Amino acid sequence: MQRHGEEAIAAAGSAAELEDVRVRFLGKKGLLTGILRGMGALPPEERPLAGQWANAVRDRLNALLAEREAALVARETESRLAAEALDVTLPGRRPPLGHRHPLRVVWTEVEAIFRGMGYEVFEGPEIEYDYYNFETLNIPKGHPARDMQDSFYVTDEILLRTHTSPSQIRFMRQRAPRLPVRMIAPGRVYRRDDDATHSPMFHQVEGLLVDAGVTFGDLKGTLLSFARQMYGEGAQIRLRPSYFPFTEPSAEVDVSCAICGGSGRLVEAELSGAPAGGLPCRTCKGTGWLEVLGAGMVHPVVLKNGGYDPERVTGFAFGMGIERLAMLKYGIDDLRLFFQNDLRFISQF
Ligand code: DAH
Repeated sequence: MQRHGEEAIAAAGSAAELEDVRVRFLGKKGLLTGILRGMGALPPEERPLAGQWANAVRDRLNALLAEREAALVARETESRLAAEALDVTLPGRRPPLGHRHPLRVVWTEVEAIFRGMGYEVFEGPEIEYDYYNFETLNIPKGHPARDMQDSFYVTDEILLRTHTSPSQIRFMRQRAPRLPVRMIAPGRVYRRDDDATHSPMFHQVEGLLVDAGVTFGDLKGTLLSFARQMYGEGAQIRLRPSYFPFTEPSAEVDVSCAICGGSGRLVEAELSGAPAGGLPCRTCKGTGWLEVLGAGMVHPVVLKNGGYDPERVTGFAFGMGIERLAMLKYGIDDLRLFFQNDLRFISQF
């Protein structure tokens, strides 16, 4: 009996098992309790000895139970402490850092380049009067040039600006008659377009320089300098005659494709088995050029609307698409990638 109890106590692996053992031997219906109850059936002369024996066994088992319980509690405490231990020498976990959106990267870079050339940065409203968006820019109501910029109207006289050009008038009216005027105005613009190459919201940077004796050569030199700071010393620009109501003469300006180096072919593709001469560059569609901006000499009507005398000063202006600049910089061939905000795309920049 005592040996069985001792073995059971030693074998108990947890407080719960130990409690089972206690109940089995010393509980109300336990083995030893049964023996003590049965003592009344013994002949009287045997009872003292049996009683002594039973009490000795009970005391012994109780002592062992207490000892075993203390050991188990100690062991459980120890393993809990081990499981909860903190390794204070581990390096901390860095919270993940966000990325700047590629359009913001390019926007900031354009600002930095023009700041370096003495331009100040201006911000015009995205909700604009028809008056600033069109009329003061020499695009009266009913002018066919309005068709090029299908618009979101808020009321008959208020719309989401279709380009950053109204910033030209707003800035000149603040500044006139002081010279020189050197400003860029980056921001969001809106048109009713939505397909693979057009988004209803996109970004432009307007540029304006007004002073005495500004020439078309100044415009070309400024744009070439910008292109080289943006895309490297090898960058070229190409001006094609065009039409805008707010400039005369006007030009569309292409920058040599930074992805294929202006050749229109991707020669590295030969390595992976493409035909000799490489594959056509997808970014510039094999032409070697990408149209990134419109520009021209500020129309006399616009100068006058801005508060300057077209007989005394001249100026140039340009408007570039930030999406286009970014596509050219990173070799991105689908405009929609900028707006889907897929982290696999965005976190590359
Ligand atoms: N505002 C024109 C557009 O969105 C772009 C533009 C062309 C801006 C010529 C200019 C400019 O300042 O001179 O299509």
